[in-house]
Amino acid sequence: SAAEKGGHEYFMLKEIEEQPEALANTLRGHFESGRIILDEQRISDQDLRDVDKVFVVACGSAYHSGLVAKYAIEHWTRLPVEVELASEFRYRDPVLDRDTLVVAVSQSGETADTLEAVRHAREQKARVLAVCNTNGAQIPRESDAVLYTHAGPEIGVASTKAFLAQIAANYLVGLALAQARGTKYPDEVAREFAELEAMPAAVQKVLSTVDQVRDLGRRIADSKAVLFLGRHVGFPVALEGALKLKELAYMHAEGFAAGELKHGPIALIEDGLPVVVVMPSPKGRAVLHSKLVSNISEIQARGARTIVIAEEGDETVRPFADELIEVPAVPTLLQPLVSTVPLQVLAAEIARARGYDVDKPRNLAKSVTVE
Ligand code: AGP
Repeated sequence: SAAEKGGHEYFMLKEIEEQPEALANTLRGHFESGRIILDEQRISDQDLRDVDKVFVVACGSAYHSGLVAKYAIEHWTRLPVEVELASEFRYRDPVLDRDTLVVAVSQSGETADTLEAVRHAREQKARVLAVCNTNGAQIPRESDAVLYTHAGPEIGVASTKAFLAQIAANYLVGLALAQARGTKYPDEVAREFAELEAMPAAVQKVLSTVDQVRDLGRRIADSKAVLFLGRHVGFPVALEGALKLKELAYMHAEGFAAGELKHGPIALIEDGLPVVVVMPSPKGRAVLHSKLVSNISEIQARGARTIVIAEEGDETVRPFADELIEVPAVPTLLQPLVSTVPLQVLAAEIARARGYDVDKPRNLAKSVTVE
């Protein structure tokens, strides 16, 4: 009913709006007396200290949350982090032992590929921490420990609030590891946590500007394809933006690392092709920012219609943006939490304009319980 959907036409639109709350709920209670606390202390501080390698295994959007987290966890902990599609993991011969931490990320906790990856990791004696949105689901039951995301039930098949909550939870895992290993001082951990706690307000700010994105969505709804480009943490955001568009609008969409453009994908650019570019901060990542500005000018010169997600006040990129979508300035590692939101809205609006059911895209199930 309309009431269940909070007055929205679709659950997904309600869930997009619930993201600030989902983030706040996921973070709540995880910083007490100056320390990061993970939900269940079945992985002790000693165990966390002994970790010498991290794997994140997941599918779809949850996998993208792992790709985002790799940047933060490696930076904070100096541990190598591999992010792997759960469906590939056990079919090669991953190098695991008791000092490997495997983080299995799953909204439903019932995804068969991820469950099998968990089983494989445990057989190899690795420690498995589930990051899950569903209480008591199979993946947390079969893991050594669990960190619940508290995004609340997600009904729309396309993941939105659970994805943002997964990023936040993965970051908590990174901070817990940094704290246990001493690669960050307690005051630095406290500062990182405080920055995370400021994110619900930043996401709320993005939500107040979605009308512009909706309007853009309607105007590009009859495109044949859309490309998404990003670098650093903006790269997984580009992948997520493309996945949303495929799922909901049945449109050909690809995400690329912008640095790869000249290694092939630039051949795809043609007149009128919408290309969404996720910009890094001009101050926080000045070098990458200027490389992306030159990418955008190149593709614009070849006729692309450039849609640029940039930090507020980013004047350098403005001349190259056919459409400019501004998001608040936040620390670089946290940028995916704001820059993903317009891409969710864009995909939903394009799908609506094309007349599709945003909550129930064709051929898809909310949780994929067969391999
Ligand atoms: C996301 O929009 C998708 N519907 C899908 O990729 C999903 O993220 C994936 O199937 C993993 O699901 P899980 O988090 O429940 O394991």
